[in-house]
Amino acid sequence: MSTVLSDEKIPNNVNLSSDKRLQRALEAWQPQFIDWWKQMGPVGWQERDIYLRTAVSVEANGWAHFDYVKMPDYRWGIFLEPKDPNRVHGFGDNMGQPVWDEVPGEFRNMLRRLVVTQGDTEPASVEQQRALGATAPSLYDLRNLFQVNVEEGRHLWAMVYLLHTHFGRDGREEAEELLARRSGDADKPRILGAFNEPTSHWLSFFMFTMFTDRDGKYQLAALAESGFDPLARTCRFMLTEEAHHMFVGETGVQRVIKRACELTKETNGDPRKLGGIDLPTIQKYLNLWYTLSLDLFGGEVSSNAADAFAAGLKGRYKEDRYEEHKLVGSHFAMDVLENGKVVHKDIPMRNALNEVLRTEYIKDCQRGVDRWNKTIRDEGLDFEMKLPSNKFHRQIGMWSTSPFTPDGEMIDAATFAARRGEWLPTQTDEDYIKSLMKPVYERAKMASWIAPPIKGINGLPEDFEYVRV
Ligand SMILES: [Fe+2]
Ligand SMILES: [Fe+2]
Repeated sequence: MSTVLSDEKIPNNVNLSSDKRLQRALEAWQPQFIDWWKQMGPVGWQERDIYLRTAVSVEANGWAHFDYVKMPDYRWGIFLEPKDPNRVHGFGDNMGQPVWDEVPGEFRNMLRRLVVTQGDTEPASVEQQRALGATAPSLYDLRNLFQVNVEEGRHLWAMVYLLHTHFGRDGREEAEELLARRSGDADKPRILGAFNEPTSHWLSFFMFTMFTDRDGKYQLAALAESGFDPLARTCRFMLTEEAHHMFVGETGVQRVIKRACELTKETNGDPRKLGGIDLPTIQKYLNLWYTLSLDLFGGEVSSNAADAFAAGLKGRYKEDRYEEHKLVGSHFAMDVLENGKVVHKDIPMRNALNEVLRTEYIKDCQRGVDRWNKTIRDEGLDFEMKLPSNKFHRQIGMWSTSPFTPDGEMIDAATFAARRGEWLPTQTDEDYIKSLMKPVYERAKMASWIAPPIKGINGLPEDFEYVRV
């Protein structure tokens, strides 16, 4: 193993060895994590050499080390951005005062809930994706799946570090619970809806990493503003890794779209004839994962969001871009449902912060969809991918109380039920997509339904042996 990696049991930049009690507690949690990983992590590839990136520091140039590693030997570490001793609260009621290094007693429960909710998503996605290694479209994609998985594991470590360090016995209990809940389990499900949905094939995996990991980016960015400094510092570094997950999603879908276009032309309109996925079916999976991800931002009008902002625990996306950071007396104009009708209305800004964050997220998603549409245009096809209305197919918040079309038109339940199959994947779509999922584990080969990537990982060629089969 390279000397870049430290020889400590738990690689870290938080001087763990100076706090023996904490070190012992985390070293006791580590084997439970490994057990969880072996039981609930990727099926079938644990003993293979995978070409993976490992975080080894937070230095902008050289934070990552690339090499072959067997996943259970991955060096999951704890890395926080360095502390800025002059940092002050950037928003909320404590604006301008020094940030906290310890949990303020009055906000302990709120903060623990934020950390646990974020932490729960990390192992959840690994569980959701655990079977995908059996059907990867190429070695390149197989490696990217595992890269995302090990980093979600490290994100779990990041949150568990906070729980162990700052929340005493409850924190340790929460850390155990994070390994005890199971995605999709009837008795002990994961906390958030999208993290209990099956990710049963690679189209859903790419949509998940495009849309659901992007929710993660916005949640982490909002927590990276936190006045609880250890949370801010850990989230900042997590965002560095997160960028790759969204790259996997956006380029993954883009390659499926490219191939769909090529095969559409070859077959005069029916790419399924040659083992491709047609654009309307891709649109249905976009509709599904985008709307599941919109739910993750929570209710449109939320006193929890207001409280977390007031307390200085959770800010907006890139708080620096805004001029005003207290948000007392300001408003956000948004659609709300009132007496069964959609009305556009001013909502007190602090109560609208979930919607403010969701709005930033939607813009970011749209930029990705625009790039997909450019691919379609470049291929010469007349088809446009669209983000559905934020009111369509919602399970959380005010829009969940009535059905809407993807264009945002309110409809009755019977109409929705009758047209559902036009908008969301049907069992037939799901069966078809699953029928395409055959592993391709020969170097430089790709499955029929996806185009090759434009370039390889870490400057390596696209046909590099990313996984030693
Ligand atoms: Fe993550
Ligand atoms: Fe992620």
